[in-house]
Amino acid sequence: MDMRPVLVRKAINRSRKAAADTRARLLPTAYSGMRLTPKRLLNYWRSRYEMWRGVERVRARPLVLTVEATNVCNLRCPQCFTGVGELGREKSMLHVEDFRRLLDELGDYLLKVEFYNWGEPLLNKQLPQMIRLAADKGIATVISTNLSFPMTDERAEEIVRSGLHVIGLSADGATQGVYEQYRVRGDLALVLANVDRLNAAKRRLGSATPRIVYSYHLFAHNTHEVDSARALAREHEMEFSLMKGWVAGADWDTEGRYNFGFHPSVGRCFYLWQQGVVHNDSGVAPCCATFYKEDDFAELGAASGDTRQSFRDAWNNDAFRAARRMFADDPAHDRRDLVCYDCPVTRIWRDYREHVRAGRPASAFEVHAAYNDGWNYFFARRPSRAKPLELIPLVPVNANRDLAGKAAAQADMSDAV
Ligand SMILES: C[S@@+](CC[C@H](N)C(=O)[O-])C[C@H]1O[C@@H](n2cnc3c(N)ncnc32)[C@H](O)[C@@H]1O
Ligand code: SF4
Repeated sequence: MDMRPVLVRKAINRSRKAAADTRARLLPTAYSGMRLTPKRLLNYWRSRYEMWRGVERVRARPLVLTVEATNVCNLRCPQCFTGVGELGREKSMLHVEDFRRLLDELGDYLLKVEFYNWGEPLLNKQLPQMIRLAADKGIATVISTNLSFPMTDERAEEIVRSGLHVIGLSADGATQGVYEQYRVRGDLALVLANVDRLNAAKRRLGSATPRIVYSYHLFAHNTHEVDSARALAREHEMEFSLMKGWVAGADWDTEGRYNFGFHPSVGRCFYLWQQGVVHNDSGVAPCCATFYKEDDFAELGAASGDTRQSFRDAWNNDAFRAARRMFADDPAHDRRDLVCYDCPVTRIWRDYREHVRAGRPASAFEVHAAYNDGWNYFFARRPSRAKPLELIPLVPVNANRDLAGKAAAQADMSDAV
């Protein structure tokens, strides 16, 4: 038998794969709507280099920016800080002028802006204006929303016209009874009517964006509705994304059937080098998981103040540099007061470096961390003013819950948002 065609095909496949690998190493993730300019690409390379070297005072700007459009929310999700009634800082709406200043400084370098963190972004009336500013600069724009509030056709058109690229719709059930166990106070029929309204607005305006992604978080009580939710997503012209939901305490998924979309591993925390986080009150946080004002590292100040410090100065202040030093080859621990000190990401790094310094082979290092350690850490870390936390346990639908869709569900796990 002539093996040449087979060998040629294999060689072509190998070179295609090599080209794809090289592209993936050299280019950033192609976020929906992002325009890759030379400035952005150079900043991306610089940022990767600085993180790889563990540089303490960074010169690169963040690649991604998380901005909290507002910390107010209409729902009461039982495992969300905001949902259980915690107050991390004063309730407010991010002002468009504050965002404009941030964009003036960072906009040429940013690849993506996420307009949400711990609140419901669409409650901020100025959000479409902010999105427009970012989209006009060629930055990918994303929100995650519960969509469970009245919306007019005009508002839907305003959202479409803003240039928003992706909406992650947080809905974790296909029937009202299951959906509202997590999205407490939510109304699934209203959510789906709003999705239809947005799709109708897209059609009227001839716009392919925003993509709408039904983001289903898996918990013990809703594993049996995944297939129906996927069908619902199709029916309402949405993409579908499945991700395991975090719960405080022990992992409900004792057999590890589902994944969170990440694995605890050794590495520097990318937030400290690559992703900026700014809250509704202009507080700068080290990452998106911190909630309380007390854990912010800096404050950008009021929109009207001339003395407002730049994001870059804030990002290189004592606290940020001390946090980056915790990820040196020989970590320095002079700021145990910082939220980063005991975070599982830092602890894994510290254990790993100790292991290596003791002369043991790097390959023999084992990560001792559970998936939900991070969630537990941030929920347990509470300033003295905070009230006792009452998380509401989520009850499995029944002991023999239907896991038939498990294989398909795992295959579909994606980070579309
Ligand atoms: C705190 S919410 C704020 C944005 C918006 N209110 C929403 O719910 O989409 C940010 C993201 O966290 C997700 N989220 C909420 N509770 C979660 C949990 N227990 N595990 C994983 N993700 C969760 C939401 O679905 C959303 O995508
Ligand atoms: S809708 Fe979002 S912000 Fe509101 S309580 Fe739920 S997870 Fe938290």
